[in-house]
Amino acid sequence: MEYRSSPIRVSGSDVGQSELSAIASVFERGYLGMGADVQEFEGLLAGYFGRPVACVATGTAALQLAVQCCGIGPGDEVLVPSLTYVAAFQAISATGATPVPVDVLQDSLTIDPDDACRRLSARTKAVMPVYYGGGIRELDRVYSLAEEHGLRVIEDAAHAFGTVFGGKRVGSTGDVACFSFDPIKNLTSGEGGCVVSDDAEFMERVRDARLLGVKGDSKARNSERRLYEFEVDSQGWRYHMSNINAAIGKAQFEVFPMRAAMRQQLAQKYNEILGSSSSIQILPYSYDDVVPHIYVVRFASSAVRDQVKARLLSELNVETALHWYPNHYLARYRLPAEALPVTEDAFSRMLTLPLHTKLSVEQVTQIAQFVSVAAESQEVPLDD
Ligand SMILES: Cc1ncc(COP(=O)(O)O)c(C=O)c1O
Repeated sequence: MEYRSSPIRVSGSDVGQSELSAIASVFERGYLGMGADVQEFEGLLAGYFGRPVACVATGTAALQLAVQCCGIGPGDEVLVPSLTYVAAFQAISATGATPVPVDVLQDSLTIDPDDACRRLSARTKAVMPVYYGGGIRELDRVYSLAEEHGLRVIEDAAHAFGTVFGGKRVGSTGDVACFSFDPIKNLTSGEGGCVVSDDAEFMERVRDARLLGVKGDSKARNSERRLYEFEVDSQGWRYHMSNINAAIGKAQFEVFPMRAAMRQQLAQKYNEILGSSSSIQILPYSYDDVVPHIYVVRFASSAVRDQVKARLLSELNVETALHWYPNHYLARYRLPAEALPVTEDAFSRMLTLPLHTKLSVEQVTQIAQFVSVAAESQEVPLDD
């Protein structure tokens, strides 16, 4: 693979004429805010999950509203893997609750149920498992823990739109699931997110809370009306979705099966080349059921990782990323060093390789071959 003048980006949006036409039709109708397009997008998603859906402005807003509308707030604690986007931590602390960082499983980098159990307290009210890169392990044990201790389960499925887990679509079962439709996600609405749950009272609270707590405003806006006399008895936010964003989401929904298959094909190609390397650890998925959002590998050491990362950029102009800087390293959520050994070790050796639907199989093949040779030339095999 030769050095390219324009970089290969680690992630990217895949939008075009159909999204533009969808936006144009919203402009033509002249109702840009929350209205019929949002209702239609919610209808498509509700059909997809087989459960009620509320669309909101971002995935972060979805998580915050989910926590708040489970009745969680000041004095309460939520168990959440430290290895997640800071959005999850900020969403929890925005409600006044305390995010309690938990370690992850060594293979999948998803929440470790045993460590979650160790960090339970009388104040724990919920657990927030995160689908890392689109997949998860041991979710049944998370639900058992929750049942035993009376906790809500708020699944952060920001990465997992389209993933099938245990034979069922993520979001179609369980307590509460939150998705992100930000620009680079498996399905985008420009910016956006949604909350999915069968809990009718909870969903009603989410619908009100996304519109400043105005009771029944969501229903009025479905028919593009406004309420001028209303009741508010709880804290709400301006977290609703606009028709413009919903129009993008609807257009993306149509092509989603094809995009999901492309993501799976690219991840399978990475697996095929990198999975046989004794110097590289991949996530434990075959990508038949998981629709990957990111593709993460681990090397033998941070030195090898740093060198591979630098060489990808300087020799091929291929960008990479780190998902994520552990939240317990941040001043706001700090824990003492070595508090979460698996997370800390993973962060020191991990690298996210490019994965998006504008990449070709040939490009992924070349990147994977380069990474494989570069890692093996360091001659430091992984222990496990
Ligand atoms: C795991 C995870 N949770 C939550 C979010 C927040 O979603 P949004 O960017 O739509 O607010 C993200 C976004 O990248 C994410 O990766």
